[in-house]
Amino acid sequence: MCGIFGAIAKTNVVTIITAGLEKLSYRGYDSAGIAVIDDHQQLKRRRLSGKIENLIECLKADPLSGDLAIGHTRWATHGEPIEKNAHPHFSENEIAIVHNGIIENYLVLKNELLQQGFIFTSDTDSELIAHFLQAQFKLHGDMILSIRRLMGRMKGSYAILAIHKKLPHQLYAFKKGSPLIIGHGTNENFISSDILSLCAYTDQFSYLNDGDIAEIKINKIGIYDTYGNETEPDKVKVDCQPSHSTKNEFPHFMLKEIYEQPEACKATIDDCRIAIKLLSDLKTKNNLSLLKSIKRICIVGCGTSYHAGLVAKSWIEKIVMIPCTVEVASEFRYQPTIVEPQTLFISISQSGETADTMGALRKAKKLGYFLTLAIGNVLQSTIMRESDYHLLTAAGPEISVASTKAFTTQLMVLLSLTLELAKAHRRIDLSAQFHKELANISLSIKQVLSTENDLIKIAQYLSQKNQVMLLGRGQLVAIALEGALKMKEISYIHTQAYPAGELKHGSMALIDKNLPVLVLAPRDAMVDKMKSNISEITARGGNVIVITNKNDLFQESEQIKVIVLPASHFLLTPILFTIALQLIAYHVAFLKGTDIDQPRNLAKSVTVE
Ligand code: M6R
Repeated sequence: MCGIFGAIAKTNVVTIITAGLEKLSYRGYDSAGIAVIDDHQQLKRRRLSGKIENLIECLKADPLSGDLAIGHTRWATHGEPIEKNAHPHFSENEIAIVHNGIIENYLVLKNELLQQGFIFTSDTDSELIAHFLQAQFKLHGDMILSIRRLMGRMKGSYAILAIHKKLPHQLYAFKKGSPLIIGHGTNENFISSDILSLCAYTDQFSYLNDGDIAEIKINKIGIYDTYGNETEPDKVKVDCQPSHSTKNEFPHFMLKEIYEQPEACKATIDDCRIAIKLLSDLKTKNNLSLLKSIKRICIVGCGTSYHAGLVAKSWIEKIVMIPCTVEVASEFRYQPTIVEPQTLFISISQSGETADTMGALRKAKKLGYFLTLAIGNVLQSTIMRESDYHLLTAAGPEISVASTKAFTTQLMVLLSLTLELAKAHRRIDLSAQFHKELANISLSIKQVLSTENDLIKIAQYLSQKNQVMLLGRGQLVAIALEGALKMKEISYIHTQAYPAGELKHGSMALIDKNLPVLVLAPRDAMVDKMKSNISEITARGGNVIVITNKNDLFQESEQIKVIVLPASHFLLTPILFTIALQLIAYHVAFLKGTDIDQPRNLAKSVTVE
C-alpha cells in the first residue's frame, strides 16, 4: 500500500509534503518519512516509525527546509515497521526514493547490487530501487535512462518518486500498477498517490499511465515513454473539493460515520435514482434496452465491499430472477473464468483503488464481459475511471479504516439497481411499493441508532470474551460476515460468522458457556428454523444474544438476551441489522481501548495484492 507525495516549488515544501501525507495516511500508517534537497544542495531526511503525527513532531524539533521534497506513509510489506525500514531510502547519500507497491523479484536484483558493493541498511524490497538508480546514474549520468533500465528489470507493482542531489531542480516519478497523479500549479508542481490530497493546490491534473516516466520541474513537466520519447502530459480539469473531515463532537471518526448513515443513505438513494435512470435509458447497438439485455451478473469486491455483493446476490436472484455470482476479487483474478454472454460485471470498491478489485476489473475487460459497472465512493478513482459505467455512493469521505457508511450506501445503490433491473426484466415491480420504504430510510436508521444504549450493554458483555460467534440465514448470512469482520478489525476479538443451519456440521463443537453467540433473527420465513438453532445452542449450555425486529418473537431467559430493532421491509433488514452490529463492534473496541479509527496492521486502501 503506502502513500507517496512529492512537490517542487519556489518555497519550502516540507509542510506541503506533511499535509499531503496526512491526507494519504489512509493508505498506511506504520511509519512516515520525508527527504528534501536543502538550500546547501544536500540530501536530508527524517523518518520515524508510527503515524505521520510522529514525523510532524520530529520536524518541529528538528526542522528541514527545501523547495524539492518527497514523502511517504507506509504500510509494511517487507520488513518490520521500524525506522530503518521507513522510506525514503537513500543510496550513497545522493539519491532518495519512495515506493508504493511490491517488487516481486527483489531478491535477484538485491543480490546483483550487493555484488556491486552497495550496502543495504533496511529489510525492504524498496531500497534496491535507490541503489539500482544510483548505479545506473553513475554509469551515464542520465536519470531517464536509469529509470528505463530499472523498469526493464523490475517485476511487480510500483509507484516511485526519486530525487538526486546532483539534479536539485527536478523530481522523477514512474509507475506500473499503482496510481500516480500529477497536480499542475503555477511555479509549483506536485505528485501524489491520489487526487484528493492535491486538490487544495490545483484543479489541473494528469494521470500517469503504466510505463510513463515523469520529469517534474518547477515550470515544466515532461512525460517519457519506455523508449525515452518525450511528450507533454495530458491535462484534465477536475473540480474536487479538499475534504475537511473532522470528528466534531464524536470521539472517533467511526462513530461519526455510523451516525452519518441516515443522511448518507438518503442522499445515495436520491443521487442514484438519476444515475440509474440514465443507465435504464441506455440502448445496445441493436436498440434493445441495455438493462434488459443483461442475462446474468458477476460481482467482485474485497472485505466489506465483497459482503455488499453477497447481499446483492440474494436480492438479484430473488427479485430480478437472473443468476448472480459473487467472488472475492483476489480469487477471481487468478481462477479460470467462464464468461457467459450478456454478463454484467460489477466491481464494488469504496476507495476505487483496491489492487485486487482493480486486477479483477482489468481481467474482466480483457475477457470481454458484456458491460463493466463500478460502484464506489471516489469518483476520480481508477476503478471508477476504468469501468464502462459507474454509480457513485454519496457516503462522503470515509476516514475510519472500518467501513460503515460506505457499506450501507453500497447496499442502497445495489438495491436501486436491483429494482431497476427488475423493472427492465418485467419482474414484479416492487419500486412503487418500495418507494415509501426508501423515503423513510433515514428514520428507520435513526431508530436503530436510538437503541445504542441497549447495544452498549451487549458490548460490555462481549468485551469480556475472547471469541464470538455470529449466525444468520438467507440475506443475513452476509451481514453476519460483515459484523464478524467489523468485530475482528477494531476489537481484535476473534469472531466467526456462519449460516445458522451450518452450525451442526462441525462448529457446534465450539459451543459452551464461554462462547457468546450473536444470532441475527428478523421476522421472516426462516424465523422458526432459527428458533430451533437457538434451542440447539442453549441445550448445550451456550449463551445467545438474539437481534430481531419484532417484539415477543423470542423469550428472554438466563441464556437468551434479546435486542429488538425497528420492524422493516425485508429489503431494508440487512442495512438496519448492519448498523446494530457496527455499534456493538464500536463499543466493544471502545471498552477494550483499541485504536478504533486506525486499527493495528491495517490500512484504509489496500493498493497491493
Ligand atoms: O476500498 P474497498 O471497498 O475496495 O476496500 C475493500 C476492503 O479492503 C475494505 O472493505 C475492508 O474490508 C474494510 N476496511 C473493512 O471494514
